[in-house]
Amino acid sequence: MKLLVVCLGNICRSPMGEGALRSRIARSPLAGRVTVDSAGTAGWHEGKAPDPRAVACARRHGVDISALRARPLQAADFRAFDHVLCADRSNLEAARDVAPPSLRGRAVLWLPWAGIAGTDDVPDPYYGDEAGFEHSWGLLEAAAAATVARLSAQAESGIIGP
Ligand code: 4NP
Repeated sequence: MKLLVVCLGNICRSPMGEGALRSRIARSPLAGRVTVDSAGTAGWHEGKAPDPRAVACARRHGVDISALRARPLQAADFRAFDHVLCADRSNLEAARDVAPPSLRGRAVLWLPWAGIAGTDDVPDPYYGDEAGFEHSWGLLEAAAAATVARLSAQAESGIIGP
């Protein structure tokens, strides 16, 4: 099983989401069976480390994302990853524009897909403050936890191999 977390710049939300997912998976029965990566629908920050505010936010929650590097989403990602988990509706539209038509369905809005009620979008914290990063982290962490629960249930029923 391969999961790709997608936002706009790949320096705030998707690296935080990747870190939250990796951390949850490492502490679950899925450890070693699910791979996680992230990408941005815009290539502006290609090769850059996550925003220092995102690194600091993840660190406050015990997760080190400092070694991640931004990269743009590509059509080939839709063949390589089973699910392309988009942070907001605008990212979802942009991701579907990149996807080969037959694989468009692999792009989903992460929060509702994971079963998080009440909010569809992880707000973009880039122009905000520390509280904005914390709010986005909370949503991403909830989505990561729900995703691991969902995939663990599938693994138990044999849908995901060893
Ligand atoms: P992200 O946030 O999509 O969560 O990585 C952003 C990062 C950079 C920009 C916008 C949003 N930007 O305009 O450069």
